[in-house]
Amino acid sequence: MITKNVEKILNEQIEKEGYSSNLYLSMASWAETEGYAGISKWLYAQAEEELLHMMKFVHFINERSGHAIIPAFKQPPAKFEGIKKLFDQVLEHEEYITKSINDIVALAIKENDFASHNWLQWFVTEQVEEEASVHEIIDKLNLLGEGNMYLFDRDIMSLRGASE
Ligand code: FEO
Repeated sequence: MITKNVEKILNEQIEKEGYSSNLYLSMASWAETEGYAGISKWLYAQAEEELLHMMKFVHFINERSGHAIIPAFKQPPAKFEGIKKLFDQVLEHEEYITKSINDIVALAIKENDFASHNWLQWFVTEQVEEEASVHEIIDKLNLLGEGNMYLFDRDIMSLRGASE
């Protein structure tokens, strides 16, 4: 059993994970049309991962006798102002998601919901990994400079996500 407050905040996370998936899907589609095969592959893989995150929340809420509500999703931007800015946006978005996971953990503790707290630890670890992998990409981009996108587009294929 989950409390009404925990059910509500978990449902809000369904929307955030689903929006993340759509945002990365939109970024992937844009990158593909711009000719960035490696970058789009990485972003498509991220979009699929976020969809799985959303599904985890749906199943968890229902398993705990709540009701997962599938929301409408805001349309993500369709155009982006270059690769460096795009990855800055990814990082900013992941930091926002990390904060929202932390807020859920804090509420679960406040409501003595230790089962949810325990389950959420997977997401806590996942956010550390996601932020680290985006930092790694931004570091590489800073090293290469905007003029060397061809090399970067090849290089990203070997990173977590795109190589799977
Ligand atoms: Fe599901 Fe990237 O947070």
